[in-house]
Amino acid sequence: MAHRKSVSGTDARQAALEGIGIFSELTKAQHRSLARLMTCIPVKAGRTLTTEGQPGREFMVIVEGAASVRRDGRLIATLGPGEFFGEMSLIAGSPRSATVTAETDMFIKTLNRREFSSMLDENPSLARKVLVGAVKRLQGLDAGPAD
Ligand code: CMP
Repeated sequence: MAHRKSVSGTDARQAALEGIGIFSELTKAQHRSLARLMTCIPVKAGRTLTTEGQPGREFMVIVEGAASVRRDGRLIATLGPGEFFGEMSLIAGSPRSATVTAETDMFIKTLNRREFSSMLDENPSLARKVLVGAVKRLQGLDAGPAD
């Protein structure tokens, strides 16, 4: 049944990953193993996703919707589909650098610290993208996609 169209949950999640910018260069096998790691959750508008100064436990990728990034109450960026956040405190073991809030209803994919580490270990090109994004944000150079 080579042409069978599967609608299993894993295939649906994998398809969603393939449409996400930071995952665009991964192979099908890498998509498959990542899809197994990532949990996709719905988020209501207004929910706080990271809180400045608090410990960070999750890395998040936006599948649908928009989130604001605020430091000291000041809006520094708006993030949309294909963009990620929460990488800084997981990489550095530091408190959250900003407060990220859902501006619309959203779908996000999350990885805990251990899953984030294995994603970086298994996908060097992806690790580079995440690190470049984090450095640009640190330098205050980037308010858009980390491509
Ligand atoms: P982290 O510090 O773990 O939690 C807050 C997140 O906000 C941070 O990781 C980044 O992912 C994100 N963030 C911080 N500064 C910026 C910025 N200038 N532009 C976009 N996102 C940012």
